[in-house]
Amino acid sequence: MAAPHILDVDFARSQFPALKAGFIFADNAGRQPSYPVRHRSHRRLSHQHQCPTGSRLQRLGSRTLFNAESNSEIAFGPSSTSNLENLARGLEPDIQPGDEFIVTGEHEANCGAWKKLAARRGAVVKYWHSTPTHPNNPYSFSLKVEDLLPLITAKTRIVAFTATSNLLGSVVPVQEITRALRADAAAKGAKKVEVSIDCVAYAPHRRMDVKAWDIVG
Ligand SMILES: Cc1ncc(COP(=O)(O)O)c(C=O)c1O
Repeated sequence: MAAPHILDVDFARSQFPALKAGFIFADNAGRQPSYPVRHRSHRRLSHQHQCPTGSRLQRLGSRTLFNAESNSEIAFGPSSTSNLENLARGLEPDIQPGDEFIVTGEHEANCGAWKKLAARRGAVVKYWHSTPTHPNNPYSFSLKVEDLLPLITAKTRIVAFTATSNLLGSVVPVQEITRALRADAAAKGAKKVEVSIDCVAYAPHRRMDVKAWDIVG
């Protein structure tokens, strides 16, 4: 029988120079680069840097990463903040005064672009707030579908939320939420609802699936 794989914690920690400072970093796993990642990033930035939508990364299996139908559904950009700003500006001509956007507030990156778009186009911003999951635990907040559905109307145009909150660590049941929100929006007569999901803190831990989540345009 093969020996069970044992994680060498000291070796793993030694690969992350920031951990030597002695602080506990309460952040997501994507935040601290290890030595090999820094080395490869340095090499890439020095010798292979190219336009952000370059095809090289696409060929490395990004379609599989998202379970997308094809690589043409995937666009790369410098950061999620700027990607969402670009997305919001791309949708701008199609936004009418009075359209309603539902956003969550964990991170400016996933609501700022929509709030600015709403201000430019006369749309209305509604907030889907996190609520407690356990009455006795003040740190147990999460986004819940029952708090989202009353916000949906025939004018709902955009719903933007985080799959995992970087502040709370809560993991949101994305498929359950998109299914319920699309059914509710259709029943209320909403014509077209775009769903934007921030997976910055989710992607390092769980598989994304744009087909099952029903977020392919
Ligand atoms: C949940 C979440 N969304 C968005 C961002 C912003 O990502 P970026 O730095 O790529 O704009 C972060 C960064 O901490 C985050 O934790």
